[in-house]
Amino acid sequence: MAKSKHRSDTDTGSEERIASPAELQDDHRLDLSLRPHSLVEFVGQEQLKNVLGMSIKAARQRGETLDHVLFAGPPGLGKTSLAHIIAREMGVSVHVTSGPAIERAADLAAIVNNLEEGDILFIDEIHRLQRPVEERLYSAMEDYEFHIVVGEGMGARTMKLAVNPFTLVGATTRSGLLSSPLRDRFGQNYHLEFYKHAELTEIVTRSARLLKIAIDAGGAAEMAARSRGTPRIANRLLRRVRDFAQVNEAALVTREVALGALAMLDIDAAGFDKMDRAILETVIDKFGGGPVGVETLAAAIGEEPDTIEEVYEPYLLQEGFLMRTPRGRAATDRAFKHLGRKRAGAMF
Ligand SMILES: Nc1ncnc2c1ncn2[C@@H]1O[C@H](COP(=O)(O)OP(=O)(O)OP(=O)(O)O)[C@@H](O)[C@H]1O
Ligand SMILES: [Mg+2]
Repeated sequence: MAKSKHRSDTDTGSEERIASPAELQDDHRLDLSLRPHSLVEFVGQEQLKNVLGMSIKAARQRGETLDHVLFAGPPGLGKTSLAHIIAREMGVSVHVTSGPAIERAADLAAIVNNLEEGDILFIDEIHRLQRPVEERLYSAMEDYEFHIVVGEGMGARTMKLAVNPFTLVGATTRSGLLSSPLRDRFGQNYHLEFYKHAELTEIVTRSARLLKIAIDAGGAAEMAARSRGTPRIANRLLRRVRDFAQVNEAALVTREVALGALAMLDIDAAGFDKMDRAILETVIDKFGGGPVGVETLAAAIGEEPDTIEEVYEPYLLQEGFLMRTPRGRAATDRAFKHLGRKRAGAMF
């Protein structure tokens, strides 16, 4: 499977971005070892867990295949983890692929043909499916039939291939790019939210226990506060803090140790790294606080517009540092204050 496009899209520089929510090269192993295996282990997203847990239970009681599930939300919030959890809780196998990996309708035919009754087909980055592939998915999802067109022009015929009832689990970081016919075919549609401070603290504490890192409450809380609401970042910071503690011969990760490591990693009090600050600084210093179109902004900082929309700005928007206006992105008072800038014409 073409693992995640984020890796190639965002990891273009020579430096690894510590605070990037996208999966970086050495996260992969860590992601696997720290991945929660059941809904009970999965921290946060309470409402989602309640509803999803109930439908899993109901489907199991009826001995039926679970309705198709869509997970939407920013990178690193647990979509892939949830897909595997569903398979485990349903007691079925999971087949993993991604939108860009399925190049032709024939590839999809081969995949669905291999599914056993009740199996999970997990399609990551489902918004990146090719149109002709996506259209074949419709009847497969709805009637468990796969339509194959044989021949061309006047002589073309459609053959119907029966597939075993299965559950499609789709994940997307860009639900806005999903077509409505596809979206409508999901019986369950969940949006993952950024995690709250207490939840991230719990995640850091859990990961530290699994990685056998001694950490106290102050250390865990400080790291949670700087994780941009994202478990993947929390786990990555933990790993870096562990290195820092080891080199500095600190037996316990306290608040002071965490702060020392975060300062060295250049992660500020809001959890922003250089790229987050570059976005805000560019909007403020080069475009007078905005509004500036995302394309122009992207060109000014040398990033892809897609990457800005998908990876960086969701958290900046949610935390009120950036605003979306009809004419582009604008910096808020909070952003000016965070960077120590004054608005032109401001009295104070
Ligand atoms: N709710 C959670 N509780 C504990 N750990 C979590 C939770 N959600 C995510 N994680 C941790 O964060 C890592 C990243 O999660 P995951 O790979 O599921 O994110 P994702 O939403 O699929 O990201 P992407 O959009 O980049 O594919 C997991 O391996 C796990 O260690
Ligand atoms: Mg994923």
